[in-house]
This record gives sequence, structure tokens and C-alpha cells, in this order.
Amino acid sequence: MCGIIGIASNKSVTANIIQSLKRLEYRGYDSAGIATIVNGNIDEKKCTGRVDNLEKILFKNPSNGFLGIGHVRWATHGAASQINAHPHSSEEVSVVHNGIIENSDELKKNLEKKGYKFKSQTDTEVITFLLTDFLKDFNLINAINKTLEKLNGSFALGIIFKKYNDIVVGARRGSPLAVGYGPEENYLGSDSYALKSMTNKITYLDDGDVCILTNNKVEFYNSKNKKVNKEILMLSDDKNIAEKGDYKDFMSKEINEQNITAKTCIKEYVDQLRKEINLYNFPVKPEEIKKIVLIGCGTAYHSCIAAKYWFEEFTNISIEIDVASEFRYRKIKFHKKNLYVFVSQSGETADTLAALDLCKKNNMKTCSIVNVVESSIARSSDFVLPIHAGPEIGVASTKAFIGQMLVLYILSIKISEIRKDINKAEYTKKINELKNLPDLIKKTLKFQDKIQVIAKDFLKAKGAIFLGRGLSFPIALEGALKLKELSYLHAEGYPAGEMKHGPLALIEEGLPVVILAPKDRYYEKTISNMQEVIARGGKVILITNEYNNVISENVRSTLKIPNTDDHLTPFLMTVPLQLLAYHVASLKNCNIDKPRNLAKSVTVE
Ligand code: G6P
Repeated sequence: MCGIIGIASNKSVTANIIQSLKRLEYRGYDSAGIATIVNGNIDEKKCTGRVDNLEKILFKNPSNGFLGIGHVRWATHGAASQINAHPHSSEEVSVVHNGIIENSDELKKNLEKKGYKFKSQTDTEVITFLLTDFLKDFNLINAINKTLEKLNGSFALGIIFKKYNDIVVGARRGSPLAVGYGPEENYLGSDSYALKSMTNKITYLDDGDVCILTNNKVEFYNSKNKKVNKEILMLSDDKNIAEKGDYKDFMSKEINEQNITAKTCIKEYVDQLRKEINLYNFPVKPEEIKKIVLIGCGTAYHSCIAAKYWFEEFTNISIEIDVASEFRYRKIKFHKKNLYVFVSQSGETADTLAALDLCKKNNMKTCSIVNVVESSIARSSDFVLPIHAGPEIGVASTKAFIGQMLVLYILSIKISEIRKDINKAEYTKKINELKNLPDLIKKTLKFQDKIQVIAKDFLKAKGAIFLGRGLSFPIALEGALKLKELSYLHAEGYPAGEMKHGPLALIEEGLPVVILAPKDRYYEKTISNMQEVIARGGKVILITNEYNNVISENVRSTLKIPNTDDHLTPFLMTVPLQLLAYHVASLKNCNIDKPRNLAKSVTVE
């Protein structure tokens, strides 16, 4: 979480820092700040709220240094206040930080004894004062190393100095950090996306690396303090993709382009001419896989649940799923014939990355399914399957979910074919069915108007429940998550069969209950659960298929998704639920792209 930018140039850097911070706002938007060197002194400016506020401050009081650092914050230690906003500066140094310093209390006590006066409640300010203290007795590189040695926890740092007023220093342990190269200027950024408006020449720091940037040179030192050369990567140019166009917000754009997301993803993996899936060189032989463990957080985790159903259906492999924050601390029994699959839109989620690291330490084979191919998770895993969804800016994940499910679905049928768990005819049939999926997704987007009306029922509700069985269960969870994230309404997703074991007590007159009942093998059972809800006064919104005419009179609204293969139905069930969350949130005037308290890329535990 949080975003870092640093620039060393031969001209004023303020405008570019502000522009980069705006791109980084998806990582945090509690507060923002900038520090530059003006007339030989550190000039720090910060504020609560959005980068726009910082821009206004700078408009009144310009700060035109030739080098500087900037930060957008997602609060961890200390409230979202101006004092706690980054940078944190002394007279000598100014620091921006992503991550958490776990021993900050102890370090703070020692520094206070030495007379340092802390202004903020953050863990970051200890770094400022440690550096200030070491700089009294040591040269630059030694002062940096002495400081880093003292820190426990994870961090990505951007630092500027009063005395060394032509350099920006970066350091990485745990949290990602990248360097970018421009014309007579160089950049530091917490991700490549921040730097992409200025350059597509990037180097990623490895754990323990320190970098020193001037406007015409970049030096890297590894964890052993040895000067090293690092590879420069050329990133793809997708500057235009992350524009809103005519849409009101990024989320409506991202929901509405899901047919294209699906089309692109299918094109990348499926050869319709040869009726073949282009997936080769697996890190383990599919025939020998004993178990597949699927791991993710939030929406990505929901895609793992859907995948469990597909893999179990198409293969004889046993499947486990886990949320990354649990997996990383459990006493896992690793086995070399297992395949560990990590799903993450950003590829930077701290818990997922830590779970991946744990597997790597145990010499396990890993595969990642990510949207950001330059991400830490992608770079750390043995095998990467990009979802090709293009940048997703809305904090609540939508098109990435479709992309994650699609890659997992494609992976499941490919693995089952290699293992001969399904025969060639079934395999070809599955490939053929995929051809129609983008158009079917497009058809579900037409529910907009109807859903806008349904959304009104949720305005006065105390909460909402989403129920489904089989492959509709993960979609019920995702529908509830979307509603919570966007509209701040309490929502529960449940397997419909579990209703009677507790949640039924929540049903009262008028409570909205969304029932996902496609005409699959669970249909009758789900409809019985729906009747139990209706009998207790629940206001039912039923989502089923077009060919289904057996609809109860007491259902408040019914949406009929197009007919398709049962295994592809989850894709079509997803869209109306995203639209529902979107319209409830719109009616409540919530900030759609940036829901309160949340961030797009959760790089802290
Ligand atoms: C955050 C986002 C969610 C996302 C989750 C996992 O909580 O707000 O939308 O599903 O992180 O993110 P990832 O990038 O790993 O998919």
C-alpha cells in the first residue's frame, strides 16, 4: 500500500511528481506529500486527502527543486492526518516509506533519549532520525547501511538529503521499488505504473538493494553493499488504456469492457483454428501433479474457489484453496508433486507474495496468474499466466475477476486434457464454447436499466444476502463483496444450503436476498432455499437462465442470463452483481472508484 515517487533532474520536478502521485492514488489516498530541495534546504509540503489538495497548496506556494520525493498514504501507523502524511523530514533528511517498521517503538525510545522530538505517530519517522543521527558520524552510504541494519519489517524507501543535494536514494526490503530512466533525469517509483508516464525503461530493485540516483546516473548496491549492475527492462506502452473515455468512472468502464477482456484473454490462450490451448512448459508435469493449491486474497480468492469446482470436475487432481493471509502462517505439509498457484490482479499483494515466498523457500513449484506482468509475484514465480485485462484502476476488482476466472478455467481444461482426464471430443467442445463467451458477457451488460430499478430496493435495507450453490457459490461471495466494498452495505454471501444453519435468522420483511439459481444440477435445491427466504418475508432477486419458466410469483425481480454451458455460467452471473453493487453505490453517492478505507494494491499485511 502507499505510493512512492522520486525524481532527480536538471529542471523543476514538482509537476512530474504530482502527475505520478495522481497515477499512484490507486495505492492510497488518505494523504499526500512532497519534499524538494529549495535554496539548499528541504522544503516539505503535505496535506490530508487527495493529491488535488496538494496541488492547490503548491499552486499557492510553489516548491521548485530539481530533485524530490512524493508519497500517497494509506494509513497503517497513526491516523490519516497532515502530521502523519509522508514525507517525514528533519533538517538534514526527508523520507517517504511504504511498508511497516516492526521495531519502531523500541527505536523511537532510543532516539527520544538522544533528544530527537517526534512529531508524528508513524513508524516512518524513526528512519528520518536514525539517518540524521548516523549522518553526524558516517558518510552517506555508511549512514544508510547503519540505518537499514536497525530496521525490522518491510520497506521501500525514497530519501533526499540537505547535504547531498543532487541525489535521491531508494532502498527495498519486502516492498517493491523500481527505477526508471529518462532524458537527463532518473526516477524512483513504488511500481512501474507510476513511472510509465515518463519512461518505459525500468529496473526492479531486489530485496536488500539500495540505489542512488542523480539526474544522469544510477548506481545500485546489493544487500552485501556491493556495487552491482542491473538489467534494464523495456515495458510495453499502455499509456492510453488507463483513460476513462466517455465513462463516468473507471469502474463503469471496466465493467462494460469485460466482453473485450474475455476476448483478449481467450485470444492469448486459445487457438480456435487448431482447437488447442497454447499452454506449454509447465513447471511440473501435469500428469504427475498430486495436488493443486490455489491461493489469493479478496476477489482473487473468489476466483480460486470457482477454479476448485472446475479442476475437480475436469481432473482427478485434489484441489485445495486458501486465503494467502492464512496460508502463510499455517503449518503446511509441502509436497514436491504439488503445484502452488497464486492469483493476484496487482501481483503485489503482500500476503500473496509472502505465501509465494514460503513455497519457494520450501522448493515448491509455483505458478502465478496476474494482471501486471512486471509485478513482484510474477517475477518470483516459476510460471506466469497473465490475464491480459489491461490496467484496472477502480479499487474494487471487476474485469480482473473475469480474467482470473478465465485463465483458471482455461488452465483446468488444458491440464485435464494433458492428463487425459477428459477426452479429445470434450476438450474440443470446451474450446468451441469459449468462442461465444465474450458475446454472452456483452448480453448481460444490457441488464443496466433493470438493475438500476432493483438497486432502489437496497437503499433502505439493513443489509443483503447472496445465495448460490456449486459454481454460483463463489459468485455469491463476490457479489456480496462488491456490494460491501462499493456501497458500504452489510452483505453476506453464503452457500444456499447453509442458510438453515444460521443466516436464515437474518431474514425479515423486506431484506433483499439475491438468489443465483441457473438451471444446473443444483437448481431445484436452490429454488427450495429461495422459497424458505420468501416464506420469511425476504425480497428475492432471482438470477437464472433464459430457458427457465418456473418462476415463483413472489419473486420481486428476475434476471435471465443467456444460456450456456453450466461451467461458463459463473462468468455471466458475475456481471449483473457488479452492476447491482455499482448502482446501489451510485444511488448512495459513494466514491465508486475509490471506496473508503480500501486500496487497490495491498502491500502491507
Ligand atoms: C484489495 C482490493 C481487492 C482485491 C484484493 C486482492 O483488497 O481492494 O479488490 O481483490 O486486494 O488484490 P490482488 O491484486 O492480489 O488481486
